Order: sequence, then C-alpha cells, then structure tokens
Amino acid sequence: MSSNRYRYAIIGTGRPHGTEGSTGFGMAHTHWPAFRAIDKVDLVAIADVRDDPAQFFLAKYASDAKHYTDYKEMLAQERPDIVSICVWPHLHAEIAIAAAEAGVKVIHCEKPMATTWGDCKRMKAAADAHGALLSFNHQRRHLKLFQAVRQAVRDGEIGELVMVEAQVGDMFDWGTHWLDMMFFYNEETPAEWVIGQIDSRQEKRAFGAYEEEQAICHFKWKNGVRGVLIAGYEASIHATHRLIGTEGVLEVLSERSMRLLSKGEAGWRVVEVPQGDRNEHVLTALDVVRQLDEPGHRSFLNIDNAIQHTEVIYATYESSRHRGRIDLPLVPEDSALLAMLAAGQIGPERRT
Ligand SMILES: NC(=O)c1ccc[n+]([C@@H]2O[C@H](COP(=O)([O-])OP(=O)(O)OC[C@H]3O[C@@H](n4cnc5c(N)ncnc54)[C@H](O)[C@@H]3O)[C@@H](O)[C@H]2O)c1
Repeated sequence: MSSNRYRYAIIGTGRPHGTEGSTGFGMAHTHWPAFRAIDKVDLVAIADVRDDPAQFFLAKYASDAKHYTDYKEMLAQERPDIVSICVWPHLHAEIAIAAAEAGVKVIHCEKPMATTWGDCKRMKAAADAHGALLSFNHQRRHLKLFQAVRQAVRDGEIGELVMVEAQVGDMFDWGTHWLDMMFFYNEETPAEWVIGQIDSRQEKRAFGAYEEEQAICHFKWKNGVRGVLIAGYEASIHATHRLIGTEGVLEVLSERSMRLLSKGEAGWRVVEVPQGDRNEHVLTALDVVRQLDEPGHRSFLNIDNAIQHTEVIYATYESSRHRGRIDLPLVPEDSALLAMLAAGQIGPERRT
C-alpha cells in the first residue's frame, strides 16, 4: 500500500437520519467516518446548497474543511482526489459527470444510480472518457454474510445454481441493493432478457425519486440462471433471498444469517456469519481508496457491476410499457415509469 494522502470532498452533507432538521438519511455522516477511519484521507471541502446541514457537519466532526454552496466551484478550486456524492438520485448523473470532467480520479456515488437509463449510460461514458473510477454505494457487497453465500455457491453446496429469488419493499430504491446481490451471487454475469410488470396507484417517493408501488421482474442471465425479484406491497418469498441449485437450496434470512438445505443433508442447517471488526462502510472506503494506491485495482462496487443490475430495473419498467419481454441491451433512454406517469397511464392521475 502506498503512503500517499488523498484530498477528499463530500457533495451533500444532510443531517443524520431522524435528527432535528434531517431531510433524509444524511449518508455523508456514514461516508466520512468510514473514510476517516482509514487514516490516509483528508477532508478538504464539503459542498451543500444549504448552510445549515453543512455547518452542522463541520461542527460535528470538528473539521476545518471549506464549505461551498456550488459544487462545481468546489471541484474547480479544491481539485479533490476522491469525491463522495451524497445527494438525492435525480442529481447523481449531473454531479458524477461534472466530477469526472473536473478530473476527479475516484468518485463514490450513492445509489440508486440515476432516475433515467440514459443518465446511467451518460455517467459511464463520462467516467470512461475521463479515466475516472466511478463506484456506487452498494455497500452490502462488503457484508460477510453475502460473501459467504457466494462462497457457498462457488463451493457447490447447492450444486449448480439455477435460480435466484429476492423480496424487497420496492424495486427502485431498496431493490437496487438486492438486484446488486443477485448479480454478485451469479458472478456478475450479464442479463439476456427481462419481463416484468409494475403497479403505481398512489404517489410513492424515495429520496425525492418517484418509484413503483409494486413490481415483479423475471430475468435470464447469459449463463442460463434465472432471477426473480418481487417488490412492494405484500411482496413475499418467505426469505430475503433464495438461491436454488440442482442439489440444494440456500436461503438468506438476514444480513447475518442464512440456512442451507444442501445435498446429502437431512434438514436445514442455519449458518450465522458475524461481520467482524470492520463494518461494510469502512470496507467500502478501503476498497474505494485502494484504487488510488494500487493502479489496476477496481472497487467491488464499480459502475460496470452497478449498471448491469440497474438495466434490469429500467428494463422492467420498459417491459411494463411495452407489454412484453425486453431483450437486452435496453435501448430507450428515458424511464418508462416516469413516462407512463406523465402520460397518465399509471399513478394517482391515471386516465387510461
Ligand atoms: N447506501 C445506502 O444504504 C443508502 C441509505 C440511505 C440513502 N441512500 C442514498 O443516499 C443518497 C442521499 O440521501 P440522504 O438521505 O443522505 O440525503 P439527505 O437529504 O440527508 O442529504 C442530502 C443533502 O444534499 C444537499 N443538496 C441538495 N442539492 C444539492 C446540490 N445541488 N449540491 C450540493 N448539495 C445538495 C441537501 O441540502 C442535503 O443536505 C440518496 O441517493 C439515497 O438513495 C443510500
């Protein structure tokens, strides 16, 4: 590991979840303690359009970092090596692209990627064009339980993987984590097609972004494995994730435990997997910073992994609009969810 120190900045500070004046989860309050813990990162600046959360943030961490209200000015003046983007999803693309264009080497952006498929593609194009290492905070990849699940599959404990199922409260905001895990379990294999349906009757938003109330998405990966995500109202598969193999079944019960019905075993075997000393946020920060220390290292949370499962989300919306299966790559660059909402085909103002 190199002994370099890195200039770090955060865009969007917020206040911690549930505290007075908070507007969301205040994810910056998760990012900074994690980056600070690895002791080679100096917080040089924060950017927030509002003074109140910014001053709260600086006071809380006894930081003399400079506060900018204009993130573009901050990028130009401070030339950070690493930037965390902790604003709501509709701003991710604009800011990630500006950071790449400003020459930031490592950009770690909150999930979900963006509010249209075109914005996701534009972020990737900008990162590639400017040589920026762009990652998204699907930090659950660093939970030991999920790594143990993938290892169990690799070890053949359920035979050959044939199906991965998941349940979740919504597809767009939380589902991005679980679809990410589904691709992780299946070794980042690209998907081939998606067929899905969504329902939206009442307005439902997460961090400002309109999202579906109910969704089902069924997809096939290029290695033949199938995926099913059930999301929203009354979603249930009676497990968090279920991995079905030719010779057994594995169910994820929580972020610390799973159970296996493996070949040759008479009943379910519960396995607890403690996280250990380093939480997933610190492991994420280490992984992200390592990209600067070790040329060639790519974060586990890199955009190429994130964009694969995000395409499934937008293809599910497109399948609902198109009334049929969507063969990938997904072509329309808008969000079919937002387009159908604007056209009065779904949502509280539904006219057709
Ligand atoms: N990874 C996870 O597990 C997880 C959990 C919760 C939220 N999130 C994601 O984190 C992101 C941020 O959500 P949050 O709850 O932390 O938000 P928040 O509301 O707590 O904070 C956002 C901050 O951004 C500031 N802001 C708005 N526009 C800005 C601009 N143009 N420039 C600079 N600052 C600006 C706001 O003033 C606010 O202080 C969202 O995308 C959300 O989905 C991720």
